[in-house]
Amino acid sequence: KNFLQFVGRATLITTIGGTGAFYFITQRDKHPGPQMPFDPEKKTLVVLGSGWGSTSLLKTLDTTDYNVVVVSPKNFFLFTPLLPSVAVGTLNNRSIIQSIRYITRHKARNVSVIEAEATDVDPFNKTITFKDTSEIKGAVSSTTIPYDYLVYGVGAETQTFNIPGVKEHACFMKELHDAERFQNEFIDCKCLETAAFPGQDPQEVERLLHMVVVGGGPTGVELSGELHDYLEDDLKSWYPELAGKIRITLVEALPSVLPMFSKQLIDYTESTFKESKIDILTKTMVKEVKERSVVLQMPDKSIKEMPCGLLVWAAGNRGRKITQDLMAKLPDAQTNKRGIMVDDFLRMKGAEDSIFAIGDCTATSYAPTAQVASQQGAYLARQLHHMAKRDQLVEKLGKLESLAATVPDEEEKKKALREVEVSKKQLAKIKLRPFEYSHQGSLAYIGSDKAIADLPFMNGNLATGGVATYLFWRSAYLSTLFSLRNRTLVATDWLKVKLFGRDVARD
Ligand code: FAD
Ligand code: NAI
Repeated sequence: KNFLQFVGRATLITTIGGTGAFYFITQRDKHPGPQMPFDPEKKTLVVLGSGWGSTSLLKTLDTTDYNVVVVSPKNFFLFTPLLPSVAVGTLNNRSIIQSIRYITRHKARNVSVIEAEATDVDPFNKTITFKDTSEIKGAVSSTTIPYDYLVYGVGAETQTFNIPGVKEHACFMKELHDAERFQNEFIDCKCLETAAFPGQDPQEVERLLHMVVVGGGPTGVELSGELHDYLEDDLKSWYPELAGKIRITLVEALPSVLPMFSKQLIDYTESTFKESKIDILTKTMVKEVKERSVVLQMPDKSIKEMPCGLLVWAAGNRGRKITQDLMAKLPDAQTNKRGIMVDDFLRMKGAEDSIFAIGDCTATSYAPTAQVASQQGAYLARQLHHMAKRDQLVEKLGKLESLAATVPDEEEKKKALREVEVSKKQLAKIKLRPFEYSHQGSLAYIGSDKAIADLPFMNGNLATGGVATYLFWRSAYLSTLFSLRNRTLVATDWLKVKLFGRDVARD
């Protein structure tokens, strides 16, 4: 009896304590305190983008060192790994985004956030031009500002290889609006409800219910897996007459899907997809996308036209126009078409003294992943702190040296020279270290409550897949989410789907 009383009390105290702490954290985060204003003595640091790289930089950055300006067409950070879950309605779209002001308002010095798209970077005059791309514009919608240092983190856009019809007819899976568009088109205008219309021709129903995903990289695989779950968990209940006719085909030009994962995980994914009735067409290249079909070059080089209701294009990355334009301004140093070339300190080659580039917009030996971008962002924030110290010391040294050279009083001169020596020693201690990437492993969800993971383990690799890995996948992403708010919303969405299923209604 005493033991039960003890357990009861302990549970009550933990619940009250936990709820109190949760409430305290949310309220503290909700009402950030006053910030220091811009300091005209400080250098201006402009950060382009609010994605993985730039957000990680802003989180770590000591804003007392600089006057920081953030320019991004989206005023939020998007947690891309869970984007396919939004596409099928497992998660709400607002659950995986967080306003960038949430970070900047918690910094010591005020950070200016501008929702705009950078249109031009002038590396010679050190200016950026940006424009307001929102529908409603004020009297001024484009302007140019100077920078001392620029952090270039604009990411990449989806690669189309200029294949005819891709831009016009395919859905992408890169931005939040892509997932929203997919949800709309899948449920209503292109597929399910149209297929359910009375008297629909059987061949047309078959076409409407055929989903094609192009690209067997992690984006295509995760989306196919999520689509399969949606079909099994919900559509079978709410569209019983259609569910058996829904087909998912994954098209990949290479001999296998997920080339970056180990062989056994590739095999595991392919066999899971087989069980899930997801067709994988490898060594098959998309040549054209039409409104109602996709043209394929089959492994034997024959051409086949496959009818489909909805096609998702996830065929990799390519540099944005602004990145190509910037690289074209430094043609001798920027010779890699894949993206911006940087040195070991993430300084853009050709503009080493002022531009740093991070994440998917760069061409490095690392894969274009969130992991790389966020490590680069955090590294750069630490570098910028050292650089601020260095710049201050260089300025101080200059002043002391000119004082020592001009001051008539001998004692004053000696004092200045002593200080020059001290500053020189301090300056010599500031050593900028090159960026080193630490790979934490690769994870991907493959549907049917299964995930795969290649994890570094004791100087080797641990390849694992299945339901336990799925639980690991969930907890890993839950803990990586941006804020307590995001974690709470995502966990609540998962619980809601477990209890009530996904929402198939559309407004
Ligand atoms: P982004 O995060 O794309 O951010 C670029 C930012 O620049 C955005 O805020 C954008 O609005 C802004 N911007 C664009 N144009 C301009 C402009 N002209 N001026 C100013 N700002 C601009 N990686 C993993 O490691 N693990 C995963 O599980 C994973 N899952 C993914 C799932 C999906 C569906 C996708 C699409 C990607 C996934 N990735 C994953 C890859 C990861 O999202 C990218 O590598 C990462 O986003 C790169 O970060 P970034 O900061 O370079 O670019
Ligand atoms: P990707 O570049 O990894 O894969 C694209 C695939 O599309 C390639 O395998 C390519 O062969 C194929 N392809 C290209 N053109 C084609 C055509 N015409 N016909 C058929 N197939 C074609 O791109 P993805 O998946 O968008 O990923 C981009 C980056 O984001 C990668 O670095 C990836 O590692 C990262 N990412 C990581 C995730 C994870 O770790 N879970 C999830 C999603 C993305």
